[in-house]
Amino acid sequence: MTSLRFVQITDTHLSDRAEGTLRGVNTAQTLAAVVDCARAREPRIDGILATGDLSHDGGTPSYRRLIRALAPLDAPVYCLPGNHDALSVFGCVLKGARVQSGGRILPEGWQLILLDTAVPGAVHGHLRPRELERLEAALQAHPDRHTLICLHHQPVPVGSVWVDRLMLDNAAALFAVLDHHPQVRGMLWGHVHQEFDGMRNGVRLLASPSSCVQFKPGCADFTLDDRPPGYRWLDLHPDGRLDTGVVYVTRGEHPL
Ligand SMILES: [Fe+2]
Repeated sequence: MTSLRFVQITDTHLSDRAEGTLRGVNTAQTLAAVVDCARAREPRIDGILATGDLSHDGGTPSYRRLIRALAPLDAPVYCLPGNHDALSVFGCVLKGARVQSGGRILPEGWQLILLDTAVPGAVHGHLRPRELERLEAALQAHPDRHTLICLHHQPVPVGSVWVDRLMLDNAAALFAVLDHHPQVRGMLWGHVHQEFDGMRNGVRLLASPSSCVQFKPGCADFTLDDRPPGYRWLDLHPDGRLDTGVVYVTRGEHPL
């Protein structure tokens, strides 16, 4: 068995229009810069984890643009929704031969479970009973596979008061499930537009920068950071070890 290399590209906030911006930043251009960066640095990608807020205004064209933008990485794309995504079209557009929304992935020796924490009309996250049951069933089905849980909303505070008001509101129910399944190695989310690397009960907890604008860590109120767009790479090893790191696009590589 060999190690698996996944790349997380999150919070792309694409618009229906190619010229769409978020906080003055053209999100299509910054995503293109992140893709170029990953293409140059990653010799092989086993899958792209697109962990929510993939569209900013939730239209079908924005999701089609996402698929096209990620195509140069030549890897399957696994998507889950965030608070900005349009749940009515998300799963319909983001599916195909190499595009999957929700569900789980079973690469050699591992299981990756994609959770839906989006609440229609709200910014915070919630795991519905059906989703918790699906998680429990997936973990029971494969106790022998090392497991990575992917979701949009942070299940633990990351240290900024304003964004931690918008976290997963029933994280205790999630941890109650995970605590009975020692094969879980990590949890990975978006939403917070910044790096986070923690540990809880033997499970690595990871958040990642957005492919567009970043939020400044440790702030009481909403504050933008001046860090560039970025992505996270993850190496999932056959023995359950998880190596990971964040790459930021360098100034010469992006349009900001
Ligand atoms: Fe979000």
